[in-house]
Amino acid sequence: MIVAIDGPAASGKGTLARRIAAHYGLPCLDTGLLYRGVGRIMLDRGFDLANVAIAAAIAENLDLADLDPDRLRDRATGEAASVVAAHGPVRSALLDLQRAFAGQPGGAVLDGRDIGTVIAPSAEVKIFVTASPAERARRRFRELVGRGDLADTAEAEAAVLADIQKRDERDSSRADAPLVVAPGATVLDTTDLGPDAAFAAALALVEAVRGPARP
Ligand code: DC
Repeated sequence: MIVAIDGPAASGKGTLARRIAAHYGLPCLDTGLLYRGVGRIMLDRGFDLANVAIAAAIAENLDLADLDPDRLRDRATGEAASVVAAHGPVRSALLDLQRAFAGQPGGAVLDGRDIGTVIAPSAEVKIFVTASPAERARRRFRELVGRGDLADTAEAEAAVLADIQKRDERDSSRADAPLVVAPGATVLDTTDLGPDAAFAAALALVEAVRGPARP
């Protein structure tokens, strides 16, 4: 079974993907990390994010094993990821790796922006996780403050909201694999749901296809 979980920035899709994967004992891939890895390397080496050829060459040589999620969660990396993710050749370079992950015997859970549309259009379960921009900003802000990355001020929260709105706009309006609700996907709006209620709702969607996890 392939479970495709897509949604905008800070929608909670990564947490849901990990919990569903753990529940069913399936491997899980946060595909945003791939774009974040490319963005981070571009920043570290001082390359212009608009340089498609260099970004594509970095994507071509990206090794999943080298990616340290903890180094890739900051705002600057997320922003850089969104810019390089709009380059078609970068997306093409990362396609095989993602499709191979999705095609593992036994199945997999993947989360991102284009899993249900491009990476695994025949996924048995497709969920589009979303929440209002203000709620997503609030969650991301709390996470960044908790990690000590951001001051706990109203200005900082407003800046996170502005980031999220900019990213929504860029991810949804790009020509190549824009963020859209995939055909056959169920929209799960978690604006008014806590983490456990969101997980229960997502699990119900998976169980409707696969049945309960076997002990
Ligand atoms: O999910 P995230 O915030 O870690 O993703 C970072 C950026 O990577 C996001 O703004 C757009 C891009 N991305 C993408 O274009 N396609 C994916 N499947 C995953 C992420």
